[in-house]
Amino acid sequence: MKILVVGGGGREHAIIRKLKENKTVTEIYALPGNGGIANDATCVPIGAKDIDKIVDFAVQNAIDFAVVAPDDPLVLGAVDRLNEVGIPCFGPTAKAAAIEGSKVFSKNLMKTYHIPTASYETFTDPKDALTYLADCAYPTVLKADGLALGKGVVIAQNKQEAEEAVHSIMEDKIFGDSGNALVIEEFLTGPEVSVLAFTDGKTVKPMVSSMDHKRIGDNDTGPNTGGMGTIAPNPYYTPDVAERCMKEIFLPTIEAMNKEGRTFRGCLYFGLMLTPNGPKVIEYNCRFGDPETQVVLPLLKSDLLSIMQATANGTLADTPVEFKDGAACCVVMASSGYPLKYETGFPITAPETLPADNEIYYAGAKLDGERLLTAGGRVLGAVAVDDNLPNAVKKAYALTETIHFANAVKRSDIGRRALEKGVN
Ligand code: AMP
Ligand code: GLY
Repeated sequence: MKILVVGGGGREHAIIRKLKENKTVTEIYALPGNGGIANDATCVPIGAKDIDKIVDFAVQNAIDFAVVAPDDPLVLGAVDRLNEVGIPCFGPTAKAAAIEGSKVFSKNLMKTYHIPTASYETFTDPKDALTYLADCAYPTVLKADGLALGKGVVIAQNKQEAEEAVHSIMEDKIFGDSGNALVIEEFLTGPEVSVLAFTDGKTVKPMVSSMDHKRIGDNDTGPNTGGMGTIAPNPYYTPDVAERCMKEIFLPTIEAMNKEGRTFRGCLYFGLMLTPNGPKVIEYNCRFGDPETQVVLPLLKSDLLSIMQATANGTLADTPVEFKDGAACCVVMASSGYPLKYETGFPITAPETLPADNEIYYAGAKLDGERLLTAGGRVLGAVAVDDNLPNAVKKAYALTETIHFANAVKRSDIGRRALEKGVN
């Protein structure tokens, strides 16, 4: 089997490593991949948003199965285009990817189908948004409608901050056309849980739950990032909560998408908040999360390629999706200054071989001859798996001590909140 993976971050590295466990896989191409992924796949310098070139490459190289991992190509219709030329894919069509691509769409979907979420209003005229802000409750949450590199959410503590967000998103268009429409929603409180779920549009098989750490600084301080670390499973996600989420959120969402004629196949990511009034959806993503994937896939016992194929051909009900007991932790090592301004091009040194319970997944890395250099904000994720969370956290941090590059930063408290809660 010749596999193509679209994308080039830590998430894609984790996916590729897992796909390689399947003995029928003979070749994996990563478009564009990165310098660290180059150890595990053939990297081809085609950008993840360059759909025409991706399709041409897939046809010319007789690709048997394609995995489209990032949000942009999914929303742009990469799966539709690959399917048109007869290549089966893991990932939703553009119509289904709207569940992430448009917050207005996803909020309206939840309202129509009674899926619990924060109450909200949508706006296309900044004047109306400003009028609404005059007497709404604070804090309040403002969200650009479209994709915004994970940065389109502003939690405004007061009217002035909210008004500034309306000006910058809707008038100055800091997120481009993503700010043509705006959602303003109720501020919710409670522990956050990420649940990634495989689905073929009929059956939903959730993966082990996880917890992201989105802020750059310890104790959740400083600006939001793509994610500075993760742990799995999330101890707040008890079997009772899981049962409730399946009944009130997961199955109703799949059903709602079917009723809308937007059947979702692939990985649906539920960003949940466990509020005092029950679990509510904070966001949907139409793809694997990053860095959630880096802790979820190492715990997967079943064959990833078979599951991905089953989501595409509608046989997920008959395909095992099983996870190991135990826990995983991913500590992201980033370039100092991220998520704002940072320098790159520093050599990375890491152990040549790792024990079976350690993984390094590269994100912002490029090859310069034989040398691996930093090339992005988030450089890599150091991952460890163990029988329990305390040991997984300890081992992931021990692994970071063996990896070196200039100006490296990391959070020192990944997993702390989960450990305080205690392990189920
Ligand atoms: P997102 O970019 O949609 O993942 O949102 C970023 C973060 O903003 C989430 O992980 C939450 O911590 C926070 N957030 C989003 N919506 C709400 C809300 N309605 N109430 C409280 N926090 C929120
Ligand atoms: N870690 C959150 C995301 O992938 O959007």
